[in-house]
Amino acid sequence: MSAITEGNAGQYGDSRKLAARARLHTEYTIAETGWFPWVAAQLPLKPANRVLDVGCGPAWFWAATAGLLPENLHLTLADLSPGMVDEAVARCRALPFGSVRGCRADAAALPFEDGAFHLVIAMHMLYHLPDPAAGIAEMARVLKPGGFLAVTTNGIGNMREIYRLTTVFGSAPIDPAAVAFGYDAAEQMMRTQFGNVAMSQYPASMRITEPEDVFLALTSYPPGEGAGEPQLSGFRRAIADAFRQGSGALDVNNETGLFLSRKTA
Ligand SMILES: C[S@@+](CC[C@H](N)C(=O)[O-])C[C@H]1O[C@@H](n2cnc3c(N)ncnc32)[C@H](O)[C@@H]1O
Repeated sequence: MSAITEGNAGQYGDSRKLAARARLHTEYTIAETGWFPWVAAQLPLKPANRVLDVGCGPAWFWAATAGLLPENLHLTLADLSPGMVDEAVARCRALPFGSVRGCRADAAALPFEDGAFHLVIAMHMLYHLPDPAAGIAEMARVLKPGGFLAVTTNGIGNMREIYRLTTVFGSAPIDPAAVAFGYDAAEQMMRTQFGNVAMSQYPASMRITEPEDVFLALTSYPPGEGAGEPQLSGFRRAIADAFRQGSGALDVNNETGLFLSRKTA
């Protein structure tokens, strides 16, 4: 079991730690379209579809895209964290969906009948599962024939300019999410499960201008979270050096993509 599959109850009790990381993207991303609208534009949804969001988190995705989606969607918001489910449901009940229900659920054992949903979406969460292929099999089971699974995750080059600074914590200079469930794993596991998969990468980069936001994001989860003072001081120095070399900014490469598979009818 890797670090990214452990300690998620503390990490995701509510959305505060996730918000520190999301801030990097919301404040500093350079892209024609925001991440959530970009994903929404590619979902093959129709009015009144039944949709399951696994690992929904605080449902920021649905809040950002409600006005862009077909009408009368029936949303089921599922997450291992009861705090996330409560926040997600409260947020989405105020939005124009056909219906909204929440469910505390483990992606590895979804408490839904076979063929219940037109679309299942699992955004940036399969890397938390000890066995992501088993999660994908569960998602396939609850899809209707002809339904779609949409998965998002990171590639191995994601934010490498930031992760190389985290070696002061003794970690590898790469995104741990991409190590656990990166592009190759998503492609291979979804193709094995469905016999088809289409991938598209979000065209974006970041120019970060506030060093403290890098510090807060990378200390919101292990190993930065829980690091001792000498390591944290070393991390601050590494961030300051990187910003100095970049004349006051840190240019960051994003590798984040969407994988879409269709269950054969
Ligand atoms: C990085 S957040 C992503 C949230 C949201 N999907 C998004 O993209 O904004 C990962 C979410 O997956 C949830 N999670 C982790 N392991 C899970 C599991 N085994 N089953 C269901 N949800 C899980 C966490 O509680 C957390 O809310």
